[in-house]
Amino acid sequence: MKERKILIETKRLSLEEIEQAAKYIRVGEVVAFQTETVYGLGADARNDEAVQKIYRAKGRPSDNPLIVHLASSEDVVRYAQEVPEKAKILMDAFWPGPLTIIFKEKPGILAETVTAGLGTVGLRVPKTEAARKLIQLSNSPIAAPSANTSGRPSPTSADHVLHDLSGKIKAVLDTGTTEVGLESTVLDLSDPEHPVLYRPGGISREAIEEKIGRVEIPQDGLFENKTPKSPGLKYRHYSPEEPVYIVTDNGLGFEKAISHFQDQKERVGLLANLSVVEKYASTVEAVFSLGEPGNVKEASKRLFDGLRFFQDTDTTIILAEAHVKEGLGEAYMNRLEKAAGGRTI
Ligand code: TXA
Ligand code: MG
Repeated sequence: MKERKILIETKRLSLEEIEQAAKYIRVGEVVAFQTETVYGLGADARNDEAVQKIYRAKGRPSDNPLIVHLASSEDVVRYAQEVPEKAKILMDAFWPGPLTIIFKEKPGILAETVTAGLGTVGLRVPKTEAARKLIQLSNSPIAAPSANTSGRPSPTSADHVLHDLSGKIKAVLDTGTTEVGLESTVLDLSDPEHPVLYRPGGISREAIEEKIGRVEIPQDGLFENKTPKSPGLKYRHYSPEEPVYIVTDNGLGFEKAISHFQDQKERVGLLANLSVVEKYASTVEAVFSLGEPGNVKEASKRLFDGLRFFQDTDTTIILAEAHVKEGLGEAYMNRLEKAAGGRTI
């Protein structure tokens, strides 16, 4: 027998209607909401069935654990077995904010599906009013991955969420576009003697090292989903439909790269700073500005929106601008390299 998929109507709620969103969380439904990094797809982290709805809506592999969002630092002791000194220092310095810290998990409290059985849990206190109110009003720790279909660029607006998940989730709480635009930094402090940076993000490695000393990078480099037990390289990430090529300073440069691909009858999309975009706008198929030249903060904020923008155009390939891998540039390049699958020119 054929299975019939019953779609639900996804509501777009305003901040005034947040009580409705909180109610959905309380009764075990999933709701998307704005954090300072990207939109998250939230459910009560203690409710296994609710958490499973997240994985289903996203099409996410269930061996990839979720971050649990809390209203305040004081709640960490409810879910973490111990809070090492280094974690306290970082929580004081960067919470609320785009830093996820991985702790040893206090057993028996969170749904098993949240932590994928790792025995550790990633916790963070988000900064937006929407996120913190939602956690408070629902009276739940909220498990939330980015609110995109697995493999697609993370959503930085409610429109992005609806594009991917409309008909699959109860509601999106629409409170505008996100401030950082890239996901949180993920730092493992479950062995405090050996802090490991799994994912660069909104808080730079330099800022963290200034507070707690050196952090390790996994041997095989920085990448999303690198968990001790779930080798994440097998998952595709941030991919728009068109292939992405990173244009580096010591590579061809935009002018030559554009003619190289146009010679091959490709229709080029440019994802670059304002001056590059203005210079070549009339010669390429479509352009998306990442802001003023050299402004990596603005570029990070706009990157995912840009990667999504080209899907409504006739471009066949995207040429994207590189940044120096330091500070926020490390996170920007990490996401861009994944979107490009290593292609540079
Ligand atoms: O900014 C963000 O972090 C956003 C917003 C919504 O908070 N969330 C987000 O979640 O990006 P997600 O699921 O897309 O990415 C979470 C990352 C994954 O790479 C996951 O493998 C890792 O954190 N992670 C979560 N818990 C972990 C754990 N216990 N051990 C190792 N890695 C963990
Ligand atoms: Mg994600």
